[in-house]
Amino acid sequence: MTTQLKVQLYENKEQLNHTHVTEFILLGFGDHHQLLLILLFLLFLFIYIVTMAGNILIILLVATDRHLHTPMYFFLGNLSCLETFCSSNILPRMLSSFLTGRKVISVNACFVQHYFFGFFGGVECYLLSAMSYDRYLAICKPLHYVTMMNGKLCFQLIVSSWFSGFLSITMTTIIMSKLVFCGDNKIDHFFCDTFPIIELFCGDTSTLKWYIYVLCSVFTFPPSILTFTSYTFIIIAIMKIPSATGKQKAFSTCSSHLLVVTIFYGTLMAVYVIPNTDRLNALHKVFSICYTILTPMINPIIYSLRNKEVKEAVRRHISFLVVQNEKKRQT
Ligand SMILES: *[C@@H]1O[C@H](CO)[C@@H](O)[C@H](O)[C@H]1NC(C)=O
Repeated sequence: MTTQLKVQLYENKEQLNHTHVTEFILLGFGDHHQLLLILLFLLFLFIYIVTMAGNILIILLVATDRHLHTPMYFFLGNLSCLETFCSSNILPRMLSSFLTGRKVISVNACFVQHYFFGFFGGVECYLLSAMSYDRYLAICKPLHYVTMMNGKLCFQLIVSSWFSGFLSITMTTIIMSKLVFCGDNKIDHFFCDTFPIIELFCGDTSTLKWYIYVLCSVFTFPPSILTFTSYTFIIIAIMKIPSATGKQKAFSTCSSHLLVVTIFYGTLMAVYVIPNTDRLNALHKVFSICYTILTPMINPIIYSLRNKEVKEAVRRHISFLVVQNEKKRQT
């Protein structure tokens, strides 16, 4: 066979492959012993159930309890909505692949998962910072809080969070859909994440990568700086509280919020803003677990369920149900 012919064949084969990537293989956490897979399945199933129960409870409370119709709870309700969608986008597929061992995902399904992942992630970045601004106003400017954080501003902040998430991922998806795949279809991740997909495109993808770095910087740096500034002012205000128990309680709430936002923004930045190398791949999976799986589970617990008003709302609903039941039994 002449070199000419070999090159020709090779080119044909490559062209054939371009059109033939219709499925991806999500390698997930790799091949492990059956027992370990079952343990992982049970662990993530537990996480999924806790996430859904906590977030749906908050959505229902905010929707039905008139005492909770305030900006703070609209934020929390929207956050819970977001977390419900976010973990339902990732976890059910992951759970089924633990159980069945099936790792194949169609290219379309992968793009849909990537789209929603980017959408919800973007919304959350801005929503968390809007929530911290709300808390800043409530704690540091209590006299002006009601006039400043009115229904209109709250609505605008929430809608612009959702809109910015929508806009950025739609642009990204349009750009990505114009590129062709090179034939390799293995994604070394547990969901269809941006950089692992980009690795599979043909040709020079460095412009696209830079676009992603810039986009993700816009979605992480300004909101995280706003969030940390808000919490700094809040902590300073807390220090001035005269009563020791009041100070301790406010501080514990504030520090747990700060911890979860630090983990959220920190892991996001580590994966999407710092240019990645192969060495960090395993670490990226761990970081991804933080913002796709752990944050949705922990947020309702940290932000809402520890809250006095939410506990009271739960108590009201339970006693209402008990009374209804009693009435039913008597009639
Ligand atoms: C989300 O925010 C909007 C706008 O303020 C509000 O009307 C809606 O009730 C919120 N959704 C939930 C589930 O709380």
